[in-house]
This record gives sequence, C-alpha cells and structure tokens, in this order.
Amino acid sequence: MDHLLSTSLLAADFTNLAKDVKMVNDSAADWIHCDIMDGVFVPNISFGFPVIEQVKKLARKPLDVHLMIVDPDRYLSRFHDAGADILTVQYEACDHLHRTVTEIRRLGMKAGVAVNPHTPVSLLKNILPDIDMVLIMTVNPGFGGQTLIPESYRKISELRKMIDERDYNVMIEVDGGIDTKNARKLIETGVNVLVAGNSIFNSADPAGTIDMLKRLE
Ligand code: DX5
Ligand code: ZN
Repeated sequence: MDHLLSTSLLAADFTNLAKDVKMVNDSAADWIHCDIMDGVFVPNISFGFPVIEQVKKLARKPLDVHLMIVDPDRYLSRFHDAGADILTVQYEACDHLHRTVTEIRRLGMKAGVAVNPHTPVSLLKNILPDIDMVLIMTVNPGFGGQTLIPESYRKISELRKMIDERDYNVMIEVDGGIDTKNARKLIETGVNVLVAGNSIFNSADPAGTIDMLKRLE
C-alpha cells in the first residue's frame, strides 16, 4: 500500500514560509501539516488563522491541520474557512468527540482524531466508523525535534488490527520524531501517513529527504 507524506511546517523557515511551501509544492510530498498549539493543551504556542490563510493561498497540496488546543469545537468552521482539508482534534481535548468529528465532516473536511502517547488506541473502538484518520502521536505533543517513543509500534499494530478486522476506511498517521531511519518500520507496522518536520527542513537537501521518505530507499 502506498503511503502518504505530510510535511510539518513547524520546522520550516518562518521568515520565508513561501519558499518552503513552494519547495513542498514541487516535491513528492502529499500534504502540508500545520500544527496549531494554544499554550494550554500543550506547553507551547505556534501559529493560527492568519498563517494558515497565507499558506493556503500558496499551497497546491491539501492542508493537514493538527489542533493541539482545548475546546476545538469553538473553531471548527474557522479552520475550514482558513483552508483546512483534513482537521484532526486531540482525543484528550474533546468531551463530546462524536459530535466534534460529525461537525468536521459536515463542514466538508476529513476528520482525524489524535491520541497522546499515554492514550490507548482501544478507546477509539466506537469512534472508528465515524472518522477518516487516527493520528498516533509518537512523541508528547508540543515541540518538534523529539525522539520517537518505541511503544508507538505496538500501538500502531493494535490499531491496524482493529481497523482491518472491521474493514474500516480509516488511515493511520504518525507524528513526531520520524526520519529516514524509522520510516520503513513504521510503514511495515501499518502506517498510511508519515508526518515529518525536522528530518525534512533541517536536512541538507529537504526535497531529497522528501523523496527518500516517499520511496523509503
Ligand atoms: C509535535 C507536532 C509535530 C511536529 C513534528 O507536537 O505535532 O507535528 O511538528 O516534528 P518532528 O518531525 O520534528 O518531530
Ligand atoms: Zn502535528
């Protein structure tokens, strides 16, 4: 099964975002990953609507927007209007997750649910029929450039089994510490979408690293 690659802009050059978005446009990458952090759900603040809107004007690939914010229901339509194509909320931030993902889909976006490293994927059993993607956080959310937590592989296998057993049409995305060394094993374990930030933008040849992460050679 072919996998997708979502480039995380958190590691891009914010003094020249247009250059990096154009590089991604011209590359083999599939999606552009936008990390939204509110300083409450995670101990960091990233960027918001004005940046997404500008990126949307330049992007020729879908925007994969990852919300690390409390009470995301307040902003679903704003993220849609700003240009999100795939909108992922954190499981831990939603009291009424079914309502949230239903609204994301009603607005015309694909709905994703992210789980923190300590959150078991078994908790997703009854939401899988209603979503398009699960994002397994392979680091604690909040910062780029961290190391992948090894227990993630077991979670991916377990989720792969849950999805395949019931034949759900749900993608598995992984996010945090992904590079050309661990990408192949992640795909073999059952991942459909790789997110990568630092391993791409801080490499000597970002477009070449994107090629490697797509081809896994
Ligand atoms: C972390 C973010 C990630 C981050 C990944 O909280 O959700 O998307 O940008 O960055 P790297 O690939 O550098 O670990
Ligand atoms: Zn992310």
